Amino acid sequence: MAASNAQQSGKRHIRLKILRQEAQDKLPRYETFDVQPEPGANVISCLQQIAARPVTASGEQSTPVAYDAGCLEEVCGACTMVINGRVRQSCSCLIDQIAPNDGDTITLEPMTKFPVIRDLWVDRSRLFHALKRTSSWVPIDSIYDRGPGPKELPDKQEPRYVLSTCMSCGCCLEACPQYNPRPDEKDWDEAFIGAHAISQVRLFNLHDTGKQLKSERLEALMGPGGVSDCGNAQNCVKVCPKEIPLTESIAAIGRAVTVHSIARWFTAR
Ligand code: SF4
Ligand code: SF4
Ligand code: FES
Repeated sequence: MAASNAQQSGKRHIRLKILRQEAQDKLPRYETFDVQPEPGANVISCLQQIAARPVTASGEQSTPVAYDAGCLEEVCGACTMVINGRVRQSCSCLIDQIAPNDGDTITLEPMTKFPVIRDLWVDRSRLFHALKRTSSWVPIDSIYDRGPGPKELPDKQEPRYVLSTCMSCGCCLEACPQYNPRPDEKDWDEAFIGAHAISQVRLFNLHDTGKQLKSERLEALMGPGGVSDCGNAQNCVKVCPKEIPLTESIAAIGRAVTVHSIARWFTAR
């Protein structure tokens, strides 16, 4: 039996209890590891320590824990996981804050609303599909120079700024009771789209060039799985790491969808 990491020195150690799953069709199980965090360490650096020496707390040889990460500065959203029962980014989760004492335990689990690829790494394709479903972009691509777009003044830019900080992390979807975990891909367009996409519709419909696609974005949110499926539980706004006013976005888009559907009813007659 190999000695565990904590048995290597007398330094402060903490225990990571990690929900592991080899693949989507395999049963999950917890495994515990002891690590010795440096001052200022985050959860990812502890996972790196395990990767360098994957031996469990009971001294069994194991394997490195799989997780996703990109920016390591809470910008890409890729490292999102459930830490001590709360969904958040593992790169900005500091050990000294959540496990300040020797021997403290931190539980790491993958998000539950997305299929597990392996261990803490999940497949967020459905989240990105929702952005495609709502044309969440500014339509500027072309094969010729279209000239300058409309001038954007600060009083319009400012309210959009916070909406533009969404990093597609999935926290708002993990916390949402209406966001059904793992429907089949063929049902994605009928399942509740989630607060992140609704807020992105608000962002791009407020943009002077982006609003060219305003009608099709609102159409995408009119049917099943659209904005009216929101149950107003307001969990999303509480967990968003960027403090995006998601419930304000949902209310604003709900009103815009109503106005759009009335206008459509009149123009169709
Ligand atoms: S307010 Fe709507 S989107 Fe937000 S958590 Fe509740 S049901 Fe989900
Ligand atoms: S709205 Fe907030 S919680 Fe939701 S995906 Fe964007 S950044 Fe994450
Ligand atoms: S690695 Fe990008 S948000 Fe954590």
